[in-house]
Amino acid sequence: MASPVVTFDVGDDGVAVITMKNPPVNAISGEVLSAVLAHFQTAHSRKDVKAIVLTGADGKFCGGADIRGFQVRKSVGAGRESGVIRVNDIMEGGPKPAVAAIETFALGGGLELAMACHARLATPNTRLGLPELQLGIIPGLGGTQRLPRLVGVGKAIDMMLTVQMLPADDALRSGLVDAVVPPERLLADAKKWALNIASGRIPWRRTLARTDHVGPVEESLKIIESKRAQYKHLFKNVPHPAACLDIVQRGLKDPYAASVMEEKISGELQVSPSGKSLIHVFFSERAVLKVPGVTDRGLKPRQIRSVAIVGGGLMGSGIATAVALQQIPVQIKETDSDALNRAVNTVRANLENRAKKSGWTQQKLQKVIALVKGTLDYKDFGNVDLVMEAAFESIPVKQQIFEALERYCKADCILATNTSLIDIDVVGAKTHCQDRLAGTHFFSPAHVMPLLELVRTEKTSPQVQLDLINFAKIIRKIPVTVKSSVGFAVNRAFFPYVSSANFLAIYLGVDPYRIDRILKDFGMPVGPFRMTDMAGQQIGVATGNLWRQTFPNRTLKMGLSSLLEEKNRLGEKTGKGVYNYKPGTRKEEPAPELKDILAEARRRSGLGADWQEVSISDQEILEMVLFPVVNEACRVLEEKVVLRASDLDLASILGMGFPRYRGGIVFWGDSLGAEHIHSQLSKWYNLYKSDAIEEFYKPSPSLERTAASKGTLASIVELTRSRL
Ligand code: COA
Repeated sequence: MASPVVTFDVGDDGVAVITMKNPPVNAISGEVLSAVLAHFQTAHSRKDVKAIVLTGADGKFCGGADIRGFQVRKSVGAGRESGVIRVNDIMEGGPKPAVAAIETFALGGGLELAMACHARLATPNTRLGLPELQLGIIPGLGGTQRLPRLVGVGKAIDMMLTVQMLPADDALRSGLVDAVVPPERLLADAKKWALNIASGRIPWRRTLARTDHVGPVEESLKIIESKRAQYKHLFKNVPHPAACLDIVQRGLKDPYAASVMEEKISGELQVSPSGKSLIHVFFSERAVLKVPGVTDRGLKPRQIRSVAIVGGGLMGSGIATAVALQQIPVQIKETDSDALNRAVNTVRANLENRAKKSGWTQQKLQKVIALVKGTLDYKDFGNVDLVMEAAFESIPVKQQIFEALERYCKADCILATNTSLIDIDVVGAKTHCQDRLAGTHFFSPAHVMPLLELVRTEKTSPQVQLDLINFAKIIRKIPVTVKSSVGFAVNRAFFPYVSSANFLAIYLGVDPYRIDRILKDFGMPVGPFRMTDMAGQQIGVATGNLWRQTFPNRTLKMGLSSLLEEKNRLGEKTGKGVYNYKPGTRKEEPAPELKDILAEARRRSGLGADWQEVSISDQEILEMVLFPVVNEACRVLEEKVVLRASDLDLASILGMGFPRYRGGIVFWGDSLGAEHIHSQLSKWYNLYKSDAIEEFYKPSPSLERTAASKGTLASIVELTRSRL
């Protein structure tokens, strides 16, 4: 017989202990909730039970509703019984007092059950919160009603909308828990507390009826209105934050009725596009850490105790900052003392900035700064566990560096390159240690951006890959394992983002500022033209050349970048690019000169006097910029650059700022359907193939197949694997 998901024990003291047991996080499935409620009813009906304690097995209370059940849920209401009325009536409204004994975490539905108890005790290491909004839903077991009644309306809204998890001491100060006790006393103290409520020594308080933390309705309404204004930016393109505020507001007068409404809306949001997307991202974040053949072979990650960086430019100093921030000693090597001073000073400035933002003491700042050392000599690398090279993108330069690294570093030191362009095998061609070579491709600024593409070759050993995955987690990066190839995953899939925007502006006459606005409205942090100004137009020229060399049939012969570079309009840093910038600011404004620059680009592209601009809708512009990206993403999947489609989704979100609530580039493509994308691309291909762009819009073979078979884009990578 399967072991029960909830156990029930009554001790001699007359306290029934109900324990949720659903590994790995004691999540609340329909079965768990039904069993908890059934045990409450048993406890209520048994004469030998005076009080109840609700807890979780294996030192964890509960990680919330079972999200795995959400993924298989096809339509609202399927497979889900109304739980909130039973929680209100049976747990909170029942005839015997209940105390929640909480260890490690009480999140989402877990905290909702705890709040329906009559008191809460937690251990010091516990975190408590209602993180449902990160999944595109709202609490569904009365959380929007009980949390404000325990911590106050303003704090409850802050916690839900910004997905805050309170540590136990903060939860105690806020009124969310009644006591913090050591783990070894948790159960005994919770039982005592429950018996004291039963005997009247401690007041019996039903959370939905509490008024001690909320003021009069008028005052709460004012707080809600100010929170609506404060969090306006979260409401763009998604329904759940506004729904959460609406339901808190509804409950000011009748929390019981509002909790019933809350459950209904939460169910609807689970199957909304943003709900499905955000739940997909949650699982993608966990799947990406699993690398078959690496994380499943019982190896133990080796600790990286000290790190060296070769090259202290923007990237190298950013990487050194990320490392020092996690208290790991780091050396930076440069070729002369001026460059070295600049590098060390940049890291110091980054750390001072962080100290200011995070309120560090001067002592802490000095301790972290002391971890950063500069050197001009490889001889100082003798003891480091990991070197990351972040030098100039030149094959001979990098090969020379790696030869030196092999000579001076210890025999098990991991040698990594931050190249975004060059094949790792080529970088390490002159070494004899290919098993410990890898790529660590950071995104700029490296101490801020969360994505780390871990590039492996055929020869990179599983141990080295595991060490790097572990190291990435330690320096607070999300590692996406990718195959060594041009542009790896993100830059490769997104190179058409700028190319297509250029085609629209130069060949079809669409205003670049309109293109940027449409992409921003869609949810990208910046449009393609603003992005090139941020990176610098010379970077645009260099990457444009790379793509032209690698994929000559599907790149524009000329983009705006080369013309802007000629005119010394390099972007933000020169105060002029596609936009103009007020001196000393990053605030862009339209450049009146752009019209003439575009006209010149057209002349140089061979567009004659009969050229005419094309009238085109916002929707079509959006698709013309993003469908070529989806098309290239299909090639990335087909070539197995990533292990799974969800890895590319995550990389697109973390590396390019693709909106999380759209699930990532492949998931979004699948939400529209391969057939639609294929038919649009085919249309543009036929219309524009005779222009300079040749095969740019041509559907890739894998998209073609997927559309024909009515399959999903996500399955391209699995199909590829099974074909081999
Ligand atoms: N339902 C189902 N599975 C869950 C879950 C949930 N609510 N929360 C976590 N899991 C699973 C994860 O998918 C992972 O599964 P895997 O090992 O198969 O990949 C496993 O539990 C461990 O989760 P992980 O996040 O890797 O562990 P952690 O110890 O770092 O963090 C939590 C644990 C609970 C803090 C974290 O998982 C979390 O924040 N979960 C979501 C909480 C939430 O949003 N609850 C509201 C749901 S409506």
